[in-house]
Amino acid sequence: MCVCAEVGGERGEMEKVKREMEARGCALVPGFASAKEIAALKDGALQIVADWADPPPSSAVFKTDKTQRLAQGAEDYFITSGPKVRFFWEPDAEKKVHQDPSKTLLQINKIGHCLHECETKGGAAFRTYSHSTKVRELVLQLGYKQPVLPQSMYIVKNPRIGSEVTSHQDSSFLFTEPTPTCLGLWLALDDCELDNGCLWFRPGSHQEPVRRQFVRKVDGGRTVMDFQQLVSDDQMSALEGRSLAPDSADLLKSHGFVPVPCKAGDLVLIHGQVEHLSLTNTSDRPRHTFQLHLVEGAPGIKWSERNWLQYPRGTPFPRL
Ligand code: FE2
Repeated sequence: MCVCAEVGGERGEMEKVKREMEARGCALVPGFASAKEIAALKDGALQIVADWADPPPSSAVFKTDKTQRLAQGAEDYFITSGPKVRFFWEPDAEKKVHQDPSKTLLQINKIGHCLHECETKGGAAFRTYSHSTKVRELVLQLGYKQPVLPQSMYIVKNPRIGSEVTSHQDSSFLFTEPTPTCLGLWLALDDCELDNGCLWFRPGSHQEPVRRQFVRKVDGGRTVMDFQQLVSDDQMSALEGRSLAPDSADLLKSHGFVPVPCKAGDLVLIHGQVEHLSLTNTSDRPRHTFQLHLVEGAPGIKWSERNWLQYPRGTPFPRL
């Protein structure tokens, strides 16, 4: 099946997407997922929450500001979540499991990091989408030879409390050697606007090197995570990792960022080195997304042994 016929319903659309990726490091594929697929993924998330047998500690919150290491790195719960399906609370939420899973979901920041292999009933929609022919064909057309899937996440970004994701490059978290190869497939499950936390990115920044790597390291006898700076101080980016107020649109524009408002079902392609972020959801509307992060699995490209995310030794990442 040719993705040209799938993407936006127009042939030639894929060439435009490829040109956008090469020039800007980010591209929008309109109407990539159908209303039926969106409903299945949203229902799947609710089902997974309903079947949730092992609530995380209340300290298992997800934050990307400068307390990231404390919020995540100090938690074995996060460090070992790569090949599992785990839940991370929104920092400002009640952190209580309700009988009604939709009420619990209203307190969750994200579910990750292996929904693409989730074998429960709720996981079916995630497995189906992640390993769909259209996802694979899209990635192959972008030049990947043997794409593998280390990570997937359901990001909830709930009304009023859905917190920001500070500016970053995805390759900082999913680093390959000797060449960074990460690609993000950011699927909007709701309409994404300025007030509910749409994506912002800095066009052209994918030409810059990976500036930080989020690594595992042993500290005082226990495994923790921390950022390792990979470039000189003058190559660092002004807003990377910096917490921003919800009304930072002017500041972002002054630093060359542009917003990417989009509709439910649209797919945003994110180059692993392009700098991007999303602000707090200040609206009364949710902003659910399902995100896949893949890397090249062909010979000659190696997953960094220092990456925070590791599968058990000898277990390969699933192929697309
Ligand atoms: Fe990202």
